Amino acid sequence: MSKNEHFVIAIDGPASSGKSTIAKNLARKLDCIYIDSGAMYRAVGLFIRENNVDVDAEKKVKEKLPEISIRIENAKDGATNIVFLNEVNVTEQIRQPIISQYASIVAKYGSVRKKLVQLQRKIAQKQSVVMDGRDIGTVVFPNADFKFFITASSKERANRRWKEIKDKGEKKSYEQVLQELKGRDKRDSSRQIAPLRKPHDAIEIDTTNLTIGEQTQILYEKIKEKLAR
Ligand code: CDP
Repeated sequence: MSKNEHFVIAIDGPASSGKSTIAKNLARKLDCIYIDSGAMYRAVGLFIRENNVDVDAEKKVKEKLPEISIRIENAKDGATNIVFLNEVNVTEQIRQPIISQYASIVAKYGSVRKKLVQLQRKIAQKQSVVMDGRDIGTVVFPNADFKFFITASSKERANRRWKEIKDKGEKKSYEQVLQELKGRDKRDSSRQIAPLRKPHDAIEIDTTNLTIGEQTQILYEKIKEKLAR
């Protein structure tokens, strides 16, 4: 793909399927930017928690939306996302496990989704992107140039998330991580608006037994293959 060409690559999948690592690597290889749409839902979740808003009351969350401004800055490599919530850098804070839960609750609300989808489309108007999330290929960019759906078994995904948490020095049992992940999967797949679904025209890749290097290479080859046709 040439630098001058405008393209959108949509990568969807459940939590800890490997999609963000693959998306970042691809963006580096293709010399474009990576956008983590989940970080935007996390930033809304963080605001709601910090302001003691009842996260289960859609009306209360909706009322707060005009007070929320989210901006993503890409570091020089294009892949690292620096997330600003009302101009405060919250890149680290939004990764707390409790914020994963808040993010998936606010993500059920149409008002929240509308605001964030607008932002996601605006970013991609100006530049080529690899964007990952839950509804990127189905709702945000139904005409994306490439769509991938990344999966892995829930045990493997919980294991990956548990290792991440452990590396950060936090204590949580594998069983608890697995239960939280399953809860989030269920909420993300069963919500009424933009549920997690494989886009009908996406290429599905199961990463359970693949290394990160192998995963990235598979997607890269698929992109090259299609372009050569
Ligand atoms: O990184 P991880 O897989 O844990 O999740 P994330 O991509 O950071 O997304 C956090 C939450 O935001 C998800 O559980 C979804 O509920 C929500 N989300 C969404 O609804 N739509 C997106 N395009 C991205 C995330």
